[in-house]
Amino acid sequence: MQRTARRTGWTIAGLVLLFVLIQGFVWHSVSRGTLGLSGNPSAIERLVGPRASLFALFAHMVSGALVTLLSVIQLAGPIRQRWPRVHRMSGRVLAVMALLTGVGGLIYVALSGTVGGPLMSMGFGVYGVLMITAAIQTPRLAMARDYARHRRWGLRLIVLGLGSWLYRLHYGLWYGITCTIGEQTCGLAAEPDFSGLFDQIQVFAFYAPYLLALEWWLRRAPAPIRT
Ligand code: HEM
Repeated sequence: MQRTARRTGWTIAGLVLLFVLIQGFVWHSVSRGTLGLSGNPSAIERLVGPRASLFALFAHMVSGALVTLLSVIQLAGPIRQRWPRVHRMSGRVLAVMALLTGVGGLIYVALSGTVGGPLMSMGFGVYGVLMITAAIQTPRLAMARDYARHRRWGLRLIVLGLGSWLYRLHYGLWYGITCTIGEQTCGLAAEPDFSGLFDQIQVFAFYAPYLLALEWWLRRAPAPIRT
């Protein structure tokens, strides 16, 4: 009993910490997106391509910010258990926003490519397809009352929803570590045009290893289903 209470306490502390950590990126994403959608050219920075493609990317930043935020909320077991209606409502919004985010990102990749070239376009393209798939599967399986599969797809959607933040976190940690070691190593294998080895690994590393870890965990511990 005491162990369960302690575990719940740690879970809540972890979720609160995660919620706090994502705030900077959520704010950055929503402000750059709204700035771009309002036609302010300062939001463009390195982005290229036709107006439709820029519009799609700015819109994906706004919806993506919500995806990041709602992913943490959906992960919160205590909210799901105490307020199932909140879980269902925010789950619906998350699925729709994830769908829009994936489509917006893919439109930009198709029309403009990416700053890092074909490999980055491939990594981000696969990310977009996976997000769209999870955004369709999660609510579809809930509606079909297949709760075991709904839970698995929901967890995949959450991992993907946090992927974009993880991408920035990896860079932050990499620069933090390499720059602490010394001036020579600062930003090692990370280039401004994203052609470095670290950049190339990163185009898949912000979601693929986390999805694999989740699959491994799901196979090891298939949990009882209550939604
Ligand atoms: C959690 C969801 C997401 C959020 C919050 C998000 C946010 C952002 C932000 C803020 C940028 C601009 C770069 C920056 O200021 O850091 C960006 C760029 C981009 N995102 Fe997303 N994104 C998300 C998901 C996706 C998905 C699913 C795709 C799928 C294709 C995608 C594709 C792209 C592309 C192609 C770029 C431009 C890369 C370049 O500079 O060439 N994003 N995203």
